[in-house]
This record gives sequence, C-alpha cells and structure tokens, in this order.
Amino acid sequence: MKEELKSIEQRAREELGSVKDAKMLEDFRIRFLGKKGEITAILKQMGRLSPEERPAMGQLANKIRENIDSALTKKKEELKAAAESQRLKAETLDITLPGKASKIGRPHPLNATLEDIEEVFLGMGFDIVDGPEVEKDYYCFEALNMPKHHPARDTQDTFYINENVLLRTQTSSVQIRVMEKKKPPIRIISPGRVYRSDTVDATHSPLFHQIEGLVIDKGITMADLKGTLELLMKRLYGEEAKVRFRPHHFPYTEPSAEVDLMCFNCHGKGCSMCKQEGWVELLGSGMVHPKVLADCGIDPEVYSGFAFGIGLERITMGRYSINDMRLLYENDMRFLEQF
Ligand code: DAH
Repeated sequence: MKEELKSIEQRAREELGSVKDAKMLEDFRIRFLGKKGEITAILKQMGRLSPEERPAMGQLANKIRENIDSALTKKKEELKAAAESQRLKAETLDITLPGKASKIGRPHPLNATLEDIEEVFLGMGFDIVDGPEVEKDYYCFEALNMPKHHPARDTQDTFYINENVLLRTQTSSVQIRVMEKKKPPIRIISPGRVYRSDTVDATHSPLFHQIEGLVIDKGITMADLKGTLELLMKRLYGEEAKVRFRPHHFPYTEPSAEVDLMCFNCHGKGCSMCKQEGWVELLGSGMVHPKVLADCGIDPEVYSGFAFGIGLERITMGRYSINDMRLLYENDMRFLEQF
C-alpha cells in the first residue's frame, strides 16, 4: 500500500507537468483527490490493515494528499499568471503609432444662419411654427389679398398640383394659418422651404428658404417692426450694420417696406457685390393689412401687427460673402469645409 501511495504521488507529479489549462487541472484534481479519486480508493482499503499499521499509513496518505494538493495550488497560480501575461501581451498598445484623425462635422452655412436667426427671435419671446410646403391656393395667395388673376401672383411663377393646390411660393401662407387658429398676442417666426418655377442661376433656385415673421397685438406700430429688424441685423452682421427701409408694395401689408443692408464690401459706395447699388435687398415687410386681419377673424380696430419675410439664402450669402447661390446646394466638401 505504501508503494502504491508513492507511485500515485510520482504519477501525479508527472501528469501535473503536462497540465496546460484550468480544465485539465480540474480533471487532474478529480482523478487524484476527488471522492472517487485514487487517494480515496487507497484509503478505502485501510480496513484490510492491522490496527497497528493503520495510523502510519493514514498519515502517509494524508501527507501525499497534501503534497499533491499544494502542487496543484502552485500549478493553478502558474496557469493564472501565464494567462494574465498572455492577456497583457494581447492588449499591448503602441502609443508611438500616429493617431487616426476623426472628422468633425459642422452645420451647413444655411443651417448655421437659421440657428442664429432663431436664437435672436426666441430671445424676444417668439415661437417657432411650421407650415405645409404643399399648400392651398387660398393660404398662399387668396387670404393674402391676392385673388385669382391678381397681377402680384405673376412675380411668383408657381408649381401647381391642381387648380387649388400648389407648392408654396412664400412662407407668408403660415401667417394666415396661425391667425386662423390663435388669437393675439401672436409672436411667431416660421422658417421653411418655398418653391418657384425659376431657372437656376447665381441668384435664383426653384427651391429656396424663407423665414416668415408675424407679430399681432394691441398698439403694434411700424416702430416695432423697425426695432425688431434692426436688432436682428445687428446680431447677424455686427453693431456697425446699417439697414434702410424703402417703400414698397405687398398686397397683404399697408404700408409695406423692403429692407436693405448697407453693402459690407463698399460701405454704400457701390461695387460689384451690390451691383453698384451700395445696398443689398434682404427682405420684405410691412404692417399687416386690415383686410387680412379681418378675414382671419381679428378686429383691425383693436389689433395691429407687422410681418416680414426673410430670404435665408440671401442673408447667408451676405454673411459669408458667397457670390453664387448654387454653391449652397451642391454639397461640395471643398466649399462647405470653409465655414
Ligand atoms: N412673401 C414675400 C416674398 O416672398 C416677403 C414678405 C413681404 C413677407 C412682406 C411678409 C411681408 O410677411 O409682410 O417676397
């Protein structure tokens, strides 16, 4: 029996040498030290020994079990250390390698300008509202004092879907939709796409963007319109920005004015950027016509208001000195990366 125990220990040491992972180690443990393992099998045969022989044999068996157990523990730690160093090796990072530059995007100049404009108006307590691009003739023209066959329609060559439905030519349609639903005080802007059957060139596109503004309350005057738009221009172009209000005609405002910005390039002297005018036309505006108010159920004897329509492309081109509108739609990265 003593010989058997010795040979078990001998074999255990040899086999442990070839154990390569945790699974093999566990098999090893079960085979030598487990309940049905080799040492237990030997101990079960102790009954055959004489009472005098038993203690010595028991001690030897325990000793050998401990030897195998501590060798096993040692092996376990070795395997763990090997696995750890393997992992560290796999995770090695060469910090001397050149990094990968990540490309950071930026807003399109039209969006950047729109965001700035929205911020100015939100600061003055305006709401931002949306309107449909496929619009009824009624909202786009009729309710704005432009009945069928009104000559003012001619300047906005239009994509009709049928006789009464069209792609809106101006965001002014949203004024009517808002006034129909909401009673004064009203303070909104409405940015969005508009469509006109124009041929593409440096200053025309069949799709462009406007930002409509509408304020209706008691006691609103032309001074409020001027103050609001002057503030907007100073925020967009800087404190030195100069605007002028020029009499004009729109069927849905009375009086009406177009607003020009003094040319930044020549400061009013006239140059190629402003077509020798010294001023650049930016937007249309005016005091909302009493008939338009009345048709929307707002009493013009009690309330008054102003409205304006800004061309987003024009404002953007002025801000960034862009001389061809088409550049804004081509999505050429060489162009866009400049902003
Ligand atoms: N709708 C006009 C256009 O497309 C711009 C405009 C002029 C809007 C006067 C207004 C306004 O609200 O009062 O050219």
